[in-house]
Amino acid sequence: MYKTTLEYFEANDIEIHYHCRDGFCGACRCNLVEGDIEYVNGEPLAFIRDGEFLPCCSVPKSDIIVTTD
Ligand code: FES
Repeated sequence: MYKTTLEYFEANDIEIHYHCRDGFCGACRCNLVEGDIEYVNGEPLAFIRDGEFLPCCSVPKSDIIVTTD
């Protein structure tokens, strides 16, 4: 099983930019179009806008639809 949404993306050849893989840098931010996620170790430090999330430190709580632009 995957520990994070980012690991799931990688296992399925979905290309996502990342750097820290721990919620600090914000490089992996994506738009959460539909569905819910939760952060595995509490709220991340990286800045994210409304509607964005960080796949490197989150897991889906439902089916999700994501965009990367
Ligand atoms: S890779 Fe740094 S916040 Fe996700």
